[in-house]
Amino acid sequence: MKYKIIFLLFSLWLSASIIAAPPLDEGKSIFAARCAACHNINKNLTGPALAGVDQRRSIDWIISFVQSSQTMVKSGNKDAVALFHKFNNIPMPDHADLSDAQIKNIVEYIKIEAKPVEEEKAPFATPSKLRPNYNLPTLHSYSFFIAFFTLVALLIAVLLFAVRVKEYERKMAGSE
Ligand code: HEC
Repeated sequence: MKYKIIFLLFSLWLSASIIAAPPLDEGKSIFAARCAACHNINKNLTGPALAGVDQRRSIDWIISFVQSSQTMVKSGNKDAVALFHKFNNIPMPDHADLSDAQIKNIVEYIKIEAKPVEEEKAPFATPSKLRPNYNLPTLHSYSFFIAFFTLVALLIAVLLFAVRVKEYERKMAGSE
C-alpha cells in the first residue's frame, strides 16, 4: 500500500510537471529550433528583427505569414509583398505544421525578449555587456510559480485523500 501511494504520487508529479510546462518555454524552444537561423529578435539577419512584430502586424497576419508566407505574397497582401521585396525576395519557408497556439507562444516569447526602445535611446548607454543583467518578473516566472503551487496543492490533496482511505480501511477492518 505504501509503495502504491509513493508510485501514485510520483506518476502524478511526473504527469503534472509535463502538463504544466509553461507555454513560453515552448515558444522559446520552437524559436531556437526553427526561426533563429534567420531571425534575431533585436537585429536584422536574413529575416527582419522580430521585436515589436506584435505591434506592426495583427496576430492573424503573423499566424498566416508563419504558416505560409508565400501564399500571402502571391495573394497580394500589401505588407507581405513589401516585406518580401525589402528582404531581397528571399522567401521565408512555410511552417504549416505550427498550430495557431504554438505561433502565439512564439510571439509571447518575442515580446519578452524584445528590448525596450528607451534602452537604445538612452544618452549614456554603455555597451550591452556592461548593462546590469536583471530581469523583472515576467509572465514566464508567474506561470511557473502558478504551475508549481498548483502542483504542491494537488500533491497535498492526494496525500490527504490517501490518509482518509487508510483510515476508512482501518475502520472497516475494526468493525468486522
Ligand atoms: C530561411 C530563413 C527563415 C526562417 C527559418 C524563418 N524566417 Fe521568418 N522571415 C524570413 C524572411 C526573409 C522574412 C522577410 C519576408 C520575406 O522575405 O518573405 C521573414 C519574415 C518574418 C515575419 C514578418 C516580420 C515583420 O516584420 O512583419 C515574421 C513574423 C516571421 N518571419 C516569423 C518567423 C518565425 C516565427 C519563424 C520560425 C517558425 C521564422 N520566421 C523562420 C526568413 C526566415
